[in-house]
Amino acid sequence: LGDGPRSARIVIVGEAPGQQEEAQGKPFVGPSGQVLNQMLSSCGIARNEVYVTNVSKTRPPNNDFGAFYEDKSKRVPSQVLKKAIEELELEIRSIDPHIVLAMGSEPLRALTGRMGIDKWRGSLILTGTGHKCLATYHTAFIMRMYHYRIICELDIKKMKKHSSTRTIAPLGYELLIDPTLDVVMQKLDYIHTHKLPVSFDIETVGRHVRCLGFAWNSRRAICIPFTSNKHGPRAGDTTLILDANENPPGSHWREEEEHLVVKECKRILEDKDIPKCAQNAVFDMTVLAEEWGIHTQGLDMDTMLAQHTCYAELGKPAQGDPTKPSASGKKSLDFLCSIWTDTPRYSDYDAYDDLSTWKYNCMDCCVTFEVWRKLHDELKDLEVDEFYYNHVLPTMWATARMQNQGVHIDVKLRQEYTVRCERRLEEIQSEIKEVIGTELNPNSPKQMQEFLYDSLALPKRYHPVTKRLTSNEEAIEWHRDHSPEHGAILGRLLEFRGIQKLVSNTLRVELSPGDTLRTTFNVAGTVNGRLASSATIWGEGTNVQNIPAGRDPEHISYGIRRIVIPPRGYTFIKADL
Ligand code: URA
Repeated sequence: LGDGPRSARIVIVGEAPGQQEEAQGKPFVGPSGQVLNQMLSSCGIARNEVYVTNVSKTRPPNNDFGAFYEDKSKRVPSQVLKKAIEELELEIRSIDPHIVLAMGSEPLRALTGRMGIDKWRGSLILTGTGHKCLATYHTAFIMRMYHYRIICELDIKKMKKHSSTRTIAPLGYELLIDPTLDVVMQKLDYIHTHKLPVSFDIETVGRHVRCLGFAWNSRRAICIPFTSNKHGPRAGDTTLILDANENPPGSHWREEEEHLVVKECKRILEDKDIPKCAQNAVFDMTVLAEEWGIHTQGLDMDTMLAQHTCYAELGKPAQGDPTKPSASGKKSLDFLCSIWTDTPRYSDYDAYDDLSTWKYNCMDCCVTFEVWRKLHDELKDLEVDEFYYNHVLPTMWATARMQNQGVHIDVKLRQEYTVRCERRLEEIQSEIKEVIGTELNPNSPKQMQEFLYDSLALPKRYHPVTKRLTSNEEAIEWHRDHSPEHGAILGRLLEFRGIQKLVSNTLRVELSPGDTLRTTFNVAGTVNGRLASSATIWGEGTNVQNIPAGRDPEHISYGIRRIVIPPRGYTFIKADL
């Protein structure tokens, strides 16, 4: 049953009692309760000033909340759950708190009907009973993913800040989302004349600018459209339709008008005395340079990089090991908005609809502006501001130039390597067929497992994290080293896989115009501060860090980095961060 003062301003709702809660008849008294109490106390809240309860007052079989649904995919709540939710609503009405903290996806769903804790946590929303509500992760999840505890604590602090009143204060945005030419010119001139710090953001269609937004404070922004969907959305389309020349839908302005607007935007973006901020600025700056030759200057902050500088470890769980953090995720503008602002999630807009897109663009600018100010202070508080300004930001400029220029490829030499590799792959395949008597595709996990564990009857190897039967590289290497009688064939299989990787990752990668190989460097792509690289978002190039060193004279990849050639008059050097 619920526990705490009935006059509490804050109600905390969990899922259901666990073993200890069931035994004592009180919510959150077991291990989850300890974590909850610690988090409350580090946010300056005493447990005895809040009312704590659960969606279900009874413990589900095997502690599995899924038992309260009719189906496995948890679409249809059972009668028992529906009844429990009705009772929870009565309970909340009788306490009538200022704010409800929903701990986890089930309380979020029960209280607000919304799904997806990652999507909704940190946003101020309303419950079905009309109470202010903020959701965060469940304590059991925090115990498994301890590096997420900081997110939960930030949510609780936000909840506490908003617990002094019942209402959600209006945010007071003033957005210019379909401005006339006069308004555009007047606003841009005002920004330029007063050298107002601005955040900026583009939306794109294909590789073109659909609209460009500027915010000059956290509540005022303008979206300048460049294309309009004059023909309206087509039901069922998943991308905006470009014409045969890859042109976006209709131009928003007449030609001479667009010329004026672009010139004015360029004046602001290229003025180094106007401090600027953008989320993932390299993307916007690259498109602006390609489209209009605008070379942005005066970038003070990339909010994505600043967030990463402060909280590099705050990524999604690493693939393969869900208890370890990775650098991916948790630096999107959605996430930054949920952490650093009071603005609830706004990014579920309709990309077909111009007005919806333009409004979203303005919101992105305003939120980026607000996060800029907050992260500016956070960099200082964490004493990483010098590192950010002297290392991270300059690295971004350097890598942006590298990725936009690409490197030249000696296509003739690359072709020679390709031919040699393909010949070798055929040789190996016929060798394998000769030894084992049938065709074998060394890239098929299923065929490889049958070959290793049925045909050769080798001892089974399991993946250390997923615990599944595996025929991955490590398993084959292990068997090659431990079963000398099969060493030769397993060695061939490994060679085959290696060469095939070389072909697909390097030799067959599509080049950009001018026989250049491009890559995208991600300055915020690793937990430890190294650079990550990948194909560009346009699908060009590759992860250049996959190109082997080619130092072994016996190996087919020997000297392969010679396919990359420096511009005339230059030479490559090796540098290390
Ligand atoms: N987890 C919950 O959701 N509620 C409790 O009461 C204890 C653990």
